[in-house]
Amino acid sequence: MADINNSRGFTSNIGAILAAAGGAVGLGNIWRFPYMLGQNGGGAFLLIYIFFVFLIGIPLMMTEFIIGRRSQSNAVGAYRKLAPNQKGWLILGILSILGGLLIYAFYSVVAGWTLNYLMLACGGKLAGKDTQAITQTFTNFTQGTWWPLASQFLFLILTGAVVTMGVQKGIEKISKILMPALFILLIAMCVRSLTLSGASQGLTFLLKPDFSKIDSHCMLAALGQSFFSLSLGMGCMVTYGSYIQKSDKLFKTSAWIAACDTFVALLAGAVIFPAVFAFGMNPASGPELVYIVLPNVFNSMPAGNLFAIIFFLLLSIAALTSTISLLEILVAFGVEELHWKRKTSSIISTLAVFIIGSICTLSFGPLKEFHLLDRTIFELFDFLTASYLMPIGALLMTIFLGWFYPKVEVKDELSNGGKLKVRAFNLYYLILRYIAPLALLIILISGIVG
Ligand code: TRP
Repeated sequence: MADINNSRGFTSNIGAILAAAGGAVGLGNIWRFPYMLGQNGGGAFLLIYIFFVFLIGIPLMMTEFIIGRRSQSNAVGAYRKLAPNQKGWLILGILSILGGLLIYAFYSVVAGWTLNYLMLACGGKLAGKDTQAITQTFTNFTQGTWWPLASQFLFLILTGAVVTMGVQKGIEKISKILMPALFILLIAMCVRSLTLSGASQGLTFLLKPDFSKIDSHCMLAALGQSFFSLSLGMGCMVTYGSYIQKSDKLFKTSAWIAACDTFVALLAGAVIFPAVFAFGMNPASGPELVYIVLPNVFNSMPAGNLFAIIFFLLLSIAALTSTISLLEILVAFGVEELHWKRKTSSIISTLAVFIIGSICTLSFGPLKEFHLLDRTIFELFDFLTASYLMPIGALLMTIFLGWFYPKVEVKDELSNGGKLKVRAFNLYYLILRYIAPLALLIILISGIVG
């Protein structure tokens, strides 16, 4: 068994942790987390966020890993194997593929921006500009046609190349190089940021909870962010779970990934807020926080351009390991269900994403006026996936594993066939059957009502 498993998936536990942590750590941590925290009450948001990561995030990640490793299959094949007589569950698999496609389509827009900003920083093109000029750079670039499309395309090609090389020689190998690099760059940025004069105000904002700021809006934002950041509900961790060795411990693996993901979000906060406060910028400025606010910050500090390069390199690396995980959902489906070669599957998936993704890119420029449900296409995809597809996907997964799949089989997979003592199994099962579905229903309903 171990041999078959080895040739198919990750070669070691550390490889699995780094690859899945690479999928989890991404723009969600360094771009989305800081602006969500900035807009939703600072330290209070952080506290709730961490609470949800541990209470719901880790059990849900274990759930996806169990489904994937038990079935040894991609996001659709998993239900074909685990519930051969209940074809309805295939819809859940198809939802995952669709969700992965939509997320990758809008995610690759922002990933393309990071690449462009990295090039701008390397060419010294952000240096010496005033606030207005930096804002202008951002709007001119994102509202254009060819440059943003080219940046997005380049990012898709880069991702496609890694995924084509396979799970071991592509995904696992590059994660083992890029994840440590990411940590080193992030720590270097942290040291710089924390030694700015006036940094402590930013740290206070990040770490000191103001309990009066906790309301339902803040809770929902934190729960949604924990989902997005841990890559849950879209079959990403089902696919990666199918590559985890049978001898690895699923609880330990999930806990490590969640810890890495939370640590990176915290470090990103510790980079961004001290700098934002030290230079009197607005922490609640929204999605452009890292593209408009930070370049201003870099320009006001010594050796700013060097730090701009380090920062956008870091952001590109984080984005790349995540786009790899998004593409792998689609490629694994193509290879295992449609019997395409890996390369063919990568090419077809990448092209499909580019066609849909280019509409997302253009929705900042030429298609800006085109609105559906009051949103641009980019906003619509973000909204649909975060508010509906991810919680629905996760809810159905908990119902599948908690209510339809036999409990003994769940325990068997989590305990590696009875070899491990899983002391907290009853706690996990309680969360799986009741707590997680309830929390997910609340997000869904409040999303529909609000
Ligand atoms: N978690 C990633 C981030 O924080 C984004 C991501 C990658 C994702 N794969 C996913 C989100 C699958 C949902 C589902 O940037």
